[in-house]
Amino acid sequence: MVIHTQKETLVQALSSGAKNDKIGFVPTMGALHKGHISLVKNALENNDVVVVSIFVNPTQFNNSADLEKYPRTPEDDISLLKKLKGDVIVYLPEVSDLYDASVSAKKYNFGNLENEMEGKHRKGHFDGVGTIVSKLLKIVKPNTAYFGEKDFQQLQIVKKLVAIEMLPVKIVGCPILREKNGLAMSSRNKRLTAKQFEEAALIYKTLQEVREKFSSTSLAGLNTLVTERFLQNPNLNLEYFEIANEKTLKTAKRKNKASKYRAFIAAFAGDVRLIDNMPLN
Ligand code: PAF
Repeated sequence: MVIHTQKETLVQALSSGAKNDKIGFVPTMGALHKGHISLVKNALENNDVVVVSIFVNPTQFNNSADLEKYPRTPEDDISLLKKLKGDVIVYLPEVSDLYDASVSAKKYNFGNLENEMEGKHRKGHFDGVGTIVSKLLKIVKPNTAYFGEKDFQQLQIVKKLVAIEMLPVKIVGCPILREKNGLAMSSRNKRLTAKQFEEAALIYKTLQEVREKFSSTSLAGLNTLVTERFLQNPNLNLEYFEIANEKTLKTAKRKNKASKYRAFIAAFAGDVRLIDNMPLN
């Protein structure tokens, strides 16, 4: 496994590979867990070489304390990746390798996807995501890039970004991996206390209950149910619950048999922000 800290040497290494080598790419912000590793394994099965980037992207954080506290565990990340069988290249840059002195994001119009849920609650977040994913895709030039469905909205945004910028890459979404208690695997889970970790399973349990009751309960009834579940646990603060159309990510106003819906939750355990989602039909 080779580690590059500069884009020039990474590009050089990739261009010295065999001409028809298929390149897979897994962009991450590090603090790797089994969910990331499943993306890398998927990429290894379907490509000749896999690039994993580890970079905590400052422009996608709308809150400086959140950026500061984001877990950074590069040594552990590298040892996890070293255990994998296959040709893995790690790109572990400093901010200055990807941004000029202004460290700013480009403004995107993702056709309103950027104004729903995460976009509404984290202003500018998807401009930051779009900016860094675009930069990384242009450096790595992968055939396929892999993203987790835990960040379902991000996955839709990245698909839109690739269409807007006409980047020749296939975007693959991979299923959410869960802890034994159902909590979606996330780098942020590393910041939870043991108690918070157990309590955070409420997010998954609530999503499951919403799925079970989706066909028999009105949308308003489901909203009330979720609010009540979170009120019963004062240690978890619900930021939003949405049932949205899977394609447009617009809040569902009524259930239409021909549409696919997904439930989305964002909640705080202390100052740790957790998100999760689940298909409903
Ligand atoms: O999902 C993430 O970890 C990040 O948003 C990504 C895609 C690596 C961009 O910084």
